[in-house]
Amino acid sequence: MLVEQITIPNKKFKDFRFLIKLTATMAIIKINNIARHFYLGNEVIKALKKIDISIEKNEFVALMGQSGSGKSTLMNIIGCLDTPTSGSYHLANQNVSSLNDNSLAEIRNKEIGFIFQSFNLLPKSTALENVMLPLVYAGYNNKIRYQKAIDALEKVNLSDRVNHKPNELSGGQRQRVAVARALVNNPSIILADEPTGNLDSRTSKEIMGLFKDIHKKGNTIIIVTHEENIARYAKRIIRLKDGEIESDEINKSLKNS
Ligand SMILES: Nc1ncnc2c1ncn2[C@@H]1O[C@H](COP(=O)(O)OP(=O)(O)OP(=O)(O)O)[C@@H](O)[C@H]1O
Ligand SMILES: [Mg+2]
Repeated sequence: MLVEQITIPNKKFKDFRFLIKLTATMAIIKINNIARHFYLGNEVIKALKKIDISIEKNEFVALMGQSGSGKSTLMNIIGCLDTPTSGSYHLANQNVSSLNDNSLAEIRNKEIGFIFQSFNLLPKSTALENVMLPLVYAGYNNKIRYQKAIDALEKVNLSDRVNHKPNELSGGQRQRVAVARALVNNPSIILADEPTGNLDSRTSKEIMGLFKDIHKKGNTIIIVTHEENIARYAKRIIRLKDGEIESDEINKSLKNS
């Protein structure tokens, strides 16, 4: 896209290669001056005020801030589960702010894997059925759905639990099912809202290890967390305060273990 828009300099080949590099590092998530207001009776709640964020492909970002600062509201917009009151949002070069519900669902299914704090697993379905679910909307036949779900569960080390229902799994195992479900469509962006919020420190480490592996494979990852220890896995930390960005910095104490 960018290469087409710029007149290629009539100089050396080297200049042309520089332009190609520019295209490759263009933001996958571009948020411009976004606000999200909720209207309750006469009251207006300004959950997000004027947010500008640009995230490139294969970044690993932690989103932090006090309870009520707007983290989930922002994640829902990034994940195409909600639209902003004003401002624009481009996801993979598409202007998402103007899409209708059907197109939003389509882009969500293709680009995004969402992991919720409360897992959001269907209680009466097995691990396998839960992981197969996003593939129903993607239109795969049953055999392919089965194989992809089995592969995703293997990636999170749950091959021996595929026929267990959520209440027959531990908290960490449930979260791993949620991770498998988010990965099964091979999305480019993984969004996780407090993925370790309900887990003990050993299981949290296990889940964060999974995120690190997924990140190494080229995915873009954004996690919401309250815990500094968890945020240390991310290369960049964005802090929200009262619906605004308080800071947006490279993480100087990146955790490697
Ligand atoms: N659907 C809604 N209707 C009205 N107000 C809402 C709605 N969703 C969120 N809010 C308000 O917007 C603000 C931001 O909420 P949000 O859920 O984004 O916070 P958060 O940073 O994720 O907090 P937590 O850490 O507690 O999960 C809060 O004041 C909340 O009460
Ligand atoms: Mg929240």
